Amino acid sequence: MIIHEMGLFLSAIPIILEGLANEDMPLVAHTARSLGTEMAHAVPRSLKQKLPEPFRQMGFALHNDFDMLALDAESLEDSKHALQQLSATVKKCAACHASYQISTRCDSDPSGKSP
Ligand code: HEC
Repeated sequence: MIIHEMGLFLSAIPIILEGLANEDMPLVAHTARSLGTEMAHAVPRSLKQKLPEPFRQMGFALHNDFDMLALDAESLEDSKHALQQLSATVKKCAACHASYQISTRCDSDPSGKSP
């Protein structure tokens, strides 16, 4: 499910950028909102409980940023401001990737010998 979410981020960001390039703020707002806290609500509680607290916080901050981007895109209609927000937001992608990975190695090799 997490990897699926990642795919949604990856495919939506170019659409937001395209919207910004064309000053199509409704497209920017609509697309950003689809990555907002609404998306986080789709994550089942059983999965949320398994995630480390800092991971959840980073995820929440990211979804929040996309909500803000959507709100501001609608109210301010300022593509430069939105681009600045997006640039700060995508830094959070790299921050989490630097700290977390999903691995099944230990589970699949009980001997623990695989690298
Ligand atoms: C809260 C943590 C977190 C945040 C924030 C985050 N990611 Fe990820 N992402 C992960 C983890 C964990 C993986 C799995 C990495 C691994 O094990 O190789 C991943 C993997 C990915 C992958 C690879 C998916 C695949 O098919 O293997 C993409 C693409 C990706 N993230 C895009 C993004 C983008 C774009 C953003 C920002 C908009 C983002 N991620 C923000 C945690 C995060």
